[in-house]
Amino acid sequence: MASNLVYVLNGPNLNLLGTREPEIYGSQTLDDIGEMTAAHAETLGLAIDMRQSNHEGHLIDWLHEAQAEGIKAVLLNAGAYTHTSIALHDAIKGIKVPVIEIHLSNPHNREEFRHISWIGKAAKATIAGFGAKGYLLGLDAVSRF
Ligand code: DQA
Repeated sequence: MASNLVYVLNGPNLNLLGTREPEIYGSQTLDDIGEMTAAHAETLGLAIDMRQSNHEGHLIDWLHEAQAEGIKAVLLNAGAYTHTSIALHDAIKGIKVPVIEIHLSNPHNREEFRHISWIGKAAKATIAGFGAKGYLLGLDAVSRF
């Protein structure tokens, strides 16, 4: 049977959500977002495994794991690694599991250094600028695959 499990992977500094630049990222903590996302997954017949790491290699290992475990899809908010990590780009390219890039903010209407996304160049799609609701929209998309 096909897996209904979706990995929700979060990169550097996203553990600080709630207190980190709330005018940009909102006041919800990552745990709040995790609870909201898990509840929404259930309504769609999906389940999530949500993780966060400040280390690039952990995110790469988890992408490889998603492939090895036959996970349905990955929602990936790579934080600032979005704009720097060719290793994450290659990891996404290297697996068959669909990866959806998620951002709380819209990097395109922010500083110029956020306009390049190595994740977006490899991912199936990108959802950005909807705040924490972007995670729910990502699941909505996955439920329609
Ligand atoms: C972010 C956008 C990135 O540019 C930034 O480095 C983050 C958060 C977002 O969710 O809006 O850490 O990925």
